Amino acid sequence: MSIVYLNGEYLPMQEAKISPMDRGFLFGDGIYEVIPSYDGKLVGFAPHIQRLNEGLQLIGINCSREQQEWREICEQLIEKNDGLNLGIYLHISRGADTKRFHAYPEDLPATVYAFAFEIPAASIADKSKAKTYKVSTTEDLRWQRCNIKSTALLGNVMHFQHGFSRGYNETILFNNNNEMTEGSACNAYIVKNGMVITPPLDNQILPGITRFMLLDILSRHSSIKVEERIVTMDEVFNADEVWLTSSSKEIAPVVEIDGSPVGNGKIGDLWLAAQTLYSAHKADY
Ligand code: PDD
Repeated sequence: MSIVYLNGEYLPMQEAKISPMDRGFLFGDGIYEVIPSYDGKLVGFAPHIQRLNEGLQLIGINCSREQQEWREICEQLIEKNDGLNLGIYLHISRGADTKRFHAYPEDLPATVYAFAFEIPAASIADKSKAKTYKVSTTEDLRWQRCNIKSTALLGNVMHFQHGFSRGYNETILFNNNNEMTEGSACNAYIVKNGMVITPPLDNQILPGITRFMLLDILSRHSSIKVEERIVTMDEVFNADEVWLTSSSKEIAPVVEIDGSPVGNGKIGDLWLAAQTLYSAHKADY
């Protein structure tokens, strides 16, 4: 049975009740995080909580807690739920009001909800064992504040569905200048001539924690060169390798885009090098 956390209590998921007047439900007015754990150990906990706090501050939700309190919730959920590899979903909404009114209400206690869910086993840096991804592409029609990890995800949901309904694993998005932004639920990269290239952090993409960790690991522990710059879709279609990253995928190799192979259609050597380094060092975060 799944045990969840709601506003200070641990209880079976079926007993967790949230008001239909909650602004998370009515407006998607909240911030969320997904933190992966493998064998009970959280990965990237501190940067995830930092991004959570930044998101709360950006949208003016007052829910200040010590990092240790968040850790306690995550660890309790890992302990109370079965599963070797669990993602911890944390959701903080602006709270349940008595009326539906757009302005931020004052002094409304935030709703804090968290649950654990199974995620795939950690990626193994082995080309013969890695899950390969086939993706579609579509224009990024989300809002202008994609750097905020908002619970209002209809744009992401519709973009994911674009690929999913066509039999693809993900959807890579591009803006109206034909520049890659990110995936519907992940960051995106190309590899060209031995260089890893990914769009810079701005309002068009989420500052992924896996992205932060990967770039930090590559710069500290390898001579692999990374460029953070605009990537055109022409470059995506002509890349040697394409990768996606997220907390539940780690580094995912893309082998097909819109029905055409990426490079030679096989997992690339730089993916192997990067995933090997990521597997070796992710526990440092
Ligand atoms: N998705 N970009 C978007 C739009 C995302 O939704 C995500 C994560 C990422 C990668 O961020 P991170 O490396 O911090 O997981 C990038 C999560 C996992 C989700 O919505 O389930």
